[in-house]
Amino acid sequence: MDLEALKREAALRAVALVKSGDRVGLGTGSTAKYAIEEIGRKLAAGELTGVVGVATSEASDVLARQVGIPVEPLDPRPLDIAIDGADEIAPNLDLIKGLGGALLREKLTEVQARRFIVIADHTKLVEHIGEKSALPIEIARFGFLSTIERLRAILPAGRLRQPGAQPYVTDNGNYIFDAQIPAGTDIAALERQLKGTLGVVDTGLFLGMAERAFVAAPDGVTELT
Ligand code: 5RP
Repeated sequence: MDLEALKREAALRAVALVKSGDRVGLGTGSTAKYAIEEIGRKLAAGELTGVVGVATSEASDVLARQVGIPVEPLDPRPLDIAIDGADEIAPNLDLIKGLGGALLREKLTEVQARRFIVIADHTKLVEHIGEKSALPIEIARFGFLSTIERLRAILPAGRLRQPGAQPYVTDNGNYIFDAQIPAGTDIAALERQLKGTLGVVDTGLFLGMAERAFVAAPDGVTELT
């Protein structure tokens, strides 16, 4: 079974939790895409009615509208459920997110969800946060070189995300600094330190937010809580 089929299996398990009338946080990335498509399919088939989406990126907004999900902006009301992928999933459901660049809108949306459900294939499981993935940190463009200096004092191994001649720009007009987390780091303390660093908009650490994760492997889908 290829990874795409596994991602879709995990997504379908999460979408089974969506009820008619729910306001749903729509994640971003190659796994979340399957969840958005499945919600659209269920709406078209009449298996769900009255579902409204809140998109965590411009790309997911476009996809949701394409598959027939009405999309609303985020407002102060709680969301019934949010479904999204992750770059790393620790045993306690702490996450790294943001390799897809949508971490700020994802965190703003998912923190407001009564239920935040993570979907992934088994390659995203880790014992310790930072084991496999860099940590994306969204930073303001203004003065970004100064912010990077401050960040390098905390996380020395890191670099500005720059896929081509120009830095990567998020949907919010910011840059991303991708940093390696040294083994043995106190992750909660790191999050506090990063959030207290001038120029940092937010980080890809999603700590204590997820209610459950559906993780698909060739031998089946595991539900982590
Ligand atoms: C985007 C994200 C994604 O959820 C994360 O990168 C996982 O993506 P994929 O499902 O494509 O592996 O955080 O900002």
